[in-house]
Amino acid sequence: MSRIAYVNGRYLPFRDAKVHVEDRGYQFADAVYEVCEVRAGRLIDERRHLDRLERSLGALRIQPPMPRAALSIVLHEVVARNRIAHGNVYLQISRGVARRDLPFPLDVAPSVVVTARSLNRLRLEALAAQGITAVSVPDNRWGRVDIKTVGLLPNVLARQSALDKGARDAWFVDQKGFMTEAASANAWIVTADGKLVTRHADHAILGGITRAVVFEVVKEQNLHIEERPFTLDEAYRAREAFVTSATQLVMPVVRLDDRPVGDGKPGPVAIRLRREFHRFAETG
Ligand code: PDD
Repeated sequence: MSRIAYVNGRYLPFRDAKVHVEDRGYQFADAVYEVCEVRAGRLIDERRHLDRLERSLGALRIQPPMPRAALSIVLHEVVARNRIAHGNVYLQISRGVARRDLPFPLDVAPSVVVTARSLNRLRLEALAAQGITAVSVPDNRWGRVDIKTVGLLPNVLARQSALDKGARDAWFVDQKGFMTEAASANAWIVTADGKLVTRHADHAILGGITRAVVFEVVKEQNLHIEERPFTLDEAYRAREAFVTSATQLVMPVVRLDDRPVGDGKPGPVAIRLRREFHRFAETG
């Protein structure tokens, strides 16, 4: 079966799914995106993802290209046409196509692209059972990473440098020595005295949807949580570490910069949060 993408009002085979060379997403990363989990053919936490999308569009002053209900239909349609059972759906909205010039163009319609892909759920579960490794890298991103833009070059370079060092993920450290987040996920630790710590959602991290849902799990499980910056050194001394994102859900991190985190195995808190996650996520 051939893959189908939605591009500006049309459902197209992948080979024909193209945007113009002067699309501002392509030229300036003048675009926002969302990634939503698909589970048993249903979208997970669509409402929260579309809320965040509207916030990102508003921050960049890009007009929503269509009403939310219409966008929702497109997302579901792309999932259905690609027969995705487990995987994710990707939505990107750029400011549109215009002659290359930095200021906002006038009267330009945003470009909308939606794709979907399957993920091997068993492989992801096997990875979670094993845990992943990460290295710390300097956070050299711009000051508004709370807006989910496609300007991900520092994230690309960070992930690649992690791979080059034999690790899977990169954890960003800001200039004051505090962890911000992972290259495409939020970062968490469990301290030696059992407190969950994750950075507060300021302009230095993306306010993750998975992170928000995990907060609800944490509340129900009566775990103690502190929303504050934590240092690399605290992460080294942590009992557990994990990341959260729509693609990885709750993913234990078992090594950081070549040191085992805790006993070097996925910890009970991360395992529990991962197990309970979908009881709290919304299924659309
Ligand atoms: N990334 N931080 C960054 C930098 C991210 O790119 C992401 C998500 C998150 C977690 O957000 P959420 O829980 O809403 O997925 C945090 C997506 C999955 C991606 O770029 O593929």
